[in-house]
Amino acid sequence: MTVTSWNRLAGTSVLLDGFHALKHAVRFGAEVPMAVAVDRQAALALAEELAPDVRDALDALLTEVPESTYTSLVARPHPTAVAALAVRPSRAANLEKLAHTPRSAPVVVLDNPRNLGNAGAVIRLAAGFGATGVVTTGTLDPWHPTVVRGGAGLHFATAVERLAVDELPPGPLFALDPEGDDIRGSKLPDDAVLAFGSERSGLSAELRARSDHLVSLPMHPQVSSYNLATSVAMTLYHWSLSGGTCGAAFGA
Ligand SMILES: C[S@@+](CC[C@H](N)C(=O)[O-])C[C@H]1O[C@@H](n2cnc3c(N)ncnc32)[C@H](O)[C@@H]1O
Repeated sequence: MTVTSWNRLAGTSVLLDGFHALKHAVRFGAEVPMAVAVDRQAALALAEELAPDVRDALDALLTEVPESTYTSLVARPHPTAVAALAVRPSRAANLEKLAHTPRSAPVVVLDNPRNLGNAGAVIRLAAGFGATGVVTTGTLDPWHPTVVRGGAGLHFATAVERLAVDELPPGPLFALDPEGDDIRGSKLPDDAVLAFGSERSGLSAELRARSDHLVSLPMHPQVSSYNLATSVAMTLYHWSLSGGTCGAAFGA
């Protein structure tokens, strides 16, 4: 029975909310024990059009359910009326990926982020740039359903974990702050740990104390700061331009 099995798994699984989250999770190797759609043929047609690489996997996974069943399984129905449950990667596996050296792409650290949507957007950026992982400090759960929704299921394309500042992965720590040295004068190495402060209060004293370099993004002097996710975007873009091994990853 779909509802009973779903409810049994839901408490310990990652909710994939919508077609795109399911598509990305499957593409990046997530284990998906259950997937439902209100219109299975429409979901497969979407896969044929947008993601033929995962069409057969979705065909094997998706169970059609009545709309009333679907809406009872999810808190906020998604326009694609597709939902799935995935197994969360183990903390041990993520910690191993984050600690692995030599590293070919930076780790992004969000120091005590507050906004779930920002965290999701950053995970999506990290996946797009092939970053090694996204680490959060503080109380926000980076696997919260709203973060997974914001990340479009791309948590499975990178290593996402919550750690204390004294547990951060090895590598030169570049902390981003409007008071730092202009980032355009720095080359960000592939093994960099790139740290960004909280939306409310910026970088914590603990993280500042551990940083090797304080760098800033160019900004008009009358503007106080950029949004957290846009700051991560500019910084990863700067890394992607500055050479290292990342050029090959982008087909350059
Ligand atoms: C919304 S801002 C934090 C604003 C906060 N009120 C403060 O006191 O810093 C979030 C984070 O984005 C990054 N950021 C924003 N604008 C930046 C800039 N011009 N240069 C470097 N980092 C920036 C920093 O890491 C900052 O801590």
